[in-house]
Formats: sequence, C-alpha cells, structure tokens
Amino acid sequence: MVRTVYVNGEYLPETEGKVSIFDRGFLFADGVYEVSAVVNGRLVDYAAHTERLARSLQELRIEWPCTRGELDRMHEELIRRNGLSEGIVYMQVTRGAADRTFNFPKEKVKPTLIAFTQAMSLVANPNAVTGVKVITTPDLRWARRDIKTVMLLAPVLGKQEAYEQGCHEAWMVEDGFVTEGTSSNAYIVKDGKLITRGLSNEILAGCTRRALFRLAKEHGVEIVERKFTVEEAYAADEACLTSASQFVMPIVEIDGHRIGGGQPGPMVRKLRELFLAEAGA
Ligand code: PDD
Repeated sequence: MVRTVYVNGEYLPETEGKVSIFDRGFLFADGVYEVSAVVNGRLVDYAAHTERLARSLQELRIEWPCTRGELDRMHEELIRRNGLSEGIVYMQVTRGAADRTFNFPKEKVKPTLIAFTQAMSLVANPNAVTGVKVITTPDLRWARRDIKTVMLLAPVLGKQEAYEQGCHEAWMVEDGFVTEGTSSNAYIVKDGKLITRGLSNEILAGCTRRALFRLAKEHGVEIVERKFTVEEAYAADEACLTSASQFVMPIVEIDGHRIGGGQPGPMVRKLRELFLAEAGA
C-alpha cells in the first residue's frame, strides 16, 4: 500500500514526499519530532505531545510551522486518508532549508513540517505477554535530552547493540545510574514501589510517563522519583519501560539478569492494563 504522507502543507503519495538536500534537519539534525500512538483510529495522549512539541521548538528557537489547529487537522487527516486503525503518527519540524551555515539562516526561512503514519500492533503486542530483554550501555548523548530532537545517533547505536544481543532495548547509563532507554523511559519496582528517575535535562519527559504517573496516583501505586543504579535494576522485583509506541512494556531480563523470575510482574501488568483501558483499546 502506498501511504499518503504530509510535506509542508501537501498530502502526497509517500513516493513523492521529498525535502531539500539543504534542509537543516538533514545537515545538522536541527529539528524536533513527536510520535503519537493511534488506537482504534484515535490519537492517544495527543495534547501532551503537542505541548512537548511547543516546548522543544521554543528551546531551539524554531518557529511553529503552522497553527496548532492545522497541526491537529493534519494528524486527523493522515489517520483518515491512510485508514489507520492502530499504529503511530510521526511528525517532524526542522528549522528549514537554507545554505549551510552553522548559525541560524539570516534570511527568514520557513520551517519544514513533515508527517507520516506507520501501522503497528500496539495493543496486542506479543512482547507485552512475554516481556522484553534489555542491555545497558553508556549514555553518549548531549546534555539537553529534555528536548526531543532528531539527533538520534547515540540511540540508534544503542538500539542496534541491543538487537545484536537478542534484546529489545538498551538502558543508557551515566555515572552508574540508568538515565532512560534509547527511545523509552526506564522503571524498576522494588518493595511495591515504582522507581524512576526524576525529570531534568538528563532525560526526556515522556508523555506516557506522565500518563502513567496519573494512573498510578489514581490507583494507589506509589511512585518514587529518584536515580537508580544498574545493580539495583538487576535486583529489582519488576521492571518496565514506557513510550508512545510501546505503552507500558514489561522487562524480564537486564544484561542477562532475570527480573521477577523471568515473567512480567503483577504491578507492571496492572499498569499496562490501566493504560490500555485509557487509550481506548
Ligand atoms: N521515543 N525517552 C526517549 C529518549 C525517547 O525517545 C522516548 C520516545 C521516550 C518516551 O516518551 P513518550 O512516552 O512521550 O513516547 C523517552 C519515541 C517513541 C521514538 O523516538 O520513537
């Protein structure tokens, strides 16, 4: 099937969606992105994603490429035109195309906005039944991980390392503490408490994380925001990751150490169920 994609105001067959070789996203990774889940044809947590997009753009002083209303309509239109029932909408904004200078272009340049859909099985993801394995790897990223930039080479290498070891995700480690996954937030459960790193410039403020915090509060699950070490993770009762495309995903092995007897644990299973119910699964 040829998808319909969005490029700077136009809906086009995916084979015709193109951006300039001078685009600063291509030359400098000078851009930001968002990934929103779609369940039963409806966006999950969309408002949180646009809020974070606004913040990312502001931090990098990139102008909005369109109005918020246009962005909303673009998401809905892509879902409709592609008949997307379950999967994701990916959208990216870059500072635009201009002759290559490191500093921002002197002439006013229109930001580039592109978006496309990907059909994926999110609700009935078989990984959620078995749980997934993760490895740990040094965190090689820059110091502003709170901005969702398309500068993803460290995550690409980390994820590839995980895949080559038969694992699903890599947890990145700095000074002995887990920061987050290459494309997800990281959690352990110990003595009935969900432990995850607090928000700072060192990690991305996940929209799924935020939803999980709310659900946990509503259902009496205690969350402790603090750093945890790799050794603590090995000794955890349960572990999981969260992201827009994986929701709450149980982890059953970290660097070959089995977690919770190698089965998804009760707290993580419950949190996933709560999240799915809210997502309209
Ligand atoms: N990644 N941390 C990092 C480094 C991420 O890239 C992501 C999301 C998250 C989770 O954020 P959220 O819950 O808002 O999806 C945390 C997306 C899914 C991606 O790059 O595909």
